[in-house]
Amino acid sequence: MRKLLLLFVALATSLSVMAAECVIVPRPVSFEPQKGKMTLNSKSVVYVADKSLVRPATLFCSYVAAEKGLQLSVVENLPKGKGVISLSIDKSLAQEEYQLDVTKKGIVIKGGSEQGVFYGLQSLRQVVFHSKGNAKKVSVECVTVKDKPHFGYRGGMLDVCRYFFGVDEVKKFIDILALHKVNRFHWHLTEDQGWRIEIKKYPNLTKIGSVRNATQVGRYSKRTQPVYDGKPYGGFFTQDEVRDIVRYATERYIDVIPEIDMPGHMVAALASYPELGCTKGPYEVRKMWGISQDILCAGRESTFEFIEGVLSEILELFPSKYIHIGGDEAPKHRWKVCPDCQKRIQEEGLKDEHELQSYFMKRVEKFLAKYGRSIIGWDEILDGGVSKTATVMAWRGPNRGIMAAKLGNKVIMTPTRYCYLDYCQTSDPDANKEPMAMSLKAKLPIRKVYLLDPYDKLNEEERKAIIGVQGNLWTEYIPNFKHAQHMLLPRLAAIAEVGWSYENKDFDDFTRRMHLFRKLYDKCGYNYAPYFFNGIE
Ligand code: ACM
Ligand code: ZN
Repeated sequence: MRKLLLLFVALATSLSVMAAECVIVPRPVSFEPQKGKMTLNSKSVVYVADKSLVRPATLFCSYVAAEKGLQLSVVENLPKGKGVISLSIDKSLAQEEYQLDVTKKGIVIKGGSEQGVFYGLQSLRQVVFHSKGNAKKVSVECVTVKDKPHFGYRGGMLDVCRYFFGVDEVKKFIDILALHKVNRFHWHLTEDQGWRIEIKKYPNLTKIGSVRNATQVGRYSKRTQPVYDGKPYGGFFTQDEVRDIVRYATERYIDVIPEIDMPGHMVAALASYPELGCTKGPYEVRKMWGISQDILCAGRESTFEFIEGVLSEILELFPSKYIHIGGDEAPKHRWKVCPDCQKRIQEEGLKDEHELQSYFMKRVEKFLAKYGRSIIGWDEILDGGVSKTATVMAWRGPNRGIMAAKLGNKVIMTPTRYCYLDYCQTSDPDANKEPMAMSLKAKLPIRKVYLLDPYDKLNEEERKAIIGVQGNLWTEYIPNFKHAQHMLLPRLAAIAEVGWSYENKDFDDFTRRMHLFRKLYDKCGYNYAPYFFNGIE
């Protein structure tokens, strides 16, 4: 039965391409096939009406060369004749909006900005890839596409701390985000198990904090004694490498949002500078997963001097409006018995340790606001009272997002049960030979990701608080980038479609298009998971 179904999907997808049905992921607002075809060949050019479009045009040419073998060139003077792909900015469109017209005479893309044009080119890239032809001649069916995203924030998070991924791998992650029209790269850079970014004022963060002595083998459990591999493990990004990555992402219209997680998940920093902790150590970079009791001391001024020193360098490296300051999973045991933290609670008239964390986050927010930046925090920042201006990343469940939206805070929905791409992808990981994943209980097949409704239980007014969605890739059980791609793809496509095509979602049509999109994954050499394509959930 399953084979029959797959045969049907395969047949349906091949027929649909012939009938010029939509091949674009995420699904555009409208895709209207027109009569006729136009031909692209090696004499075809991409004409840019505005110099700022040379970069996206050049990127497009590189995609078509790699994926279709067809060499196109970029020109800044309008040529005569057929086969021209013409790009321009049309200010009457919204920033990320575009229109793509393939006519017998030529192809026209108009975007509300460079970014809009880039998304038009990403769509055309998919159309060209699925068109008949080869390196000499590609025959593109005429079509009119009108498109714009529903949500302004469409994110992908990568944890480079539990396991480290180098510059080329991070760039590949960014390429994957760009292909899916994702516009935010949330880069989780600091953790208990490793500090991964050079901070010149605090050299120990990378000298000591970027290396752990060993790594836990097998699944983490509070109940069993961990087993370690006995091998030192480390890695970090120099500031030059960070600049290179930020530039690479910017060229693909992706903002890089760095996360410096505080006051918890800071053991690597504590190992580097033990005076930052309530007990003053000694500490070692954590070898096992889970949550540490040791967090930054919120009582001593020196902690805030440290955070401001780190963030000052972060601000230089990352132009993003948002800086993520974490706030998740910070146990309060140390603060309860620390004289400095207790003194702070008294002096500031705080009710408890949750309010102390709120004091901490608000103070850091105020510092960043001086430089025109806004904070994002995990939904724990709601616990002791949150400032109105903080953006809340709802992870423990949609309810946290709903709570924040009702308070009037901006919200990014990334609840574990829909958006945690470190969870396994089928209901039976052992039988289907899935690699070990974060949770034995939680299953996240792509259909479930697709089901996320970021507006659920919110009225018209409250919905305005939801700025978008994000897929998170935590890497405790993801030791290499090949494995990371297996977890990311194809589920990122579902996140992207929730974010871009919210009003237009249709799982059956998504499935049909994904069977085509998969061929582009193949061409790009992406190591996507096979389960969904084999009909296994
Ligand atoms: C989280 O997953 N600890 C935000
Ligand atoms: Zn303390």
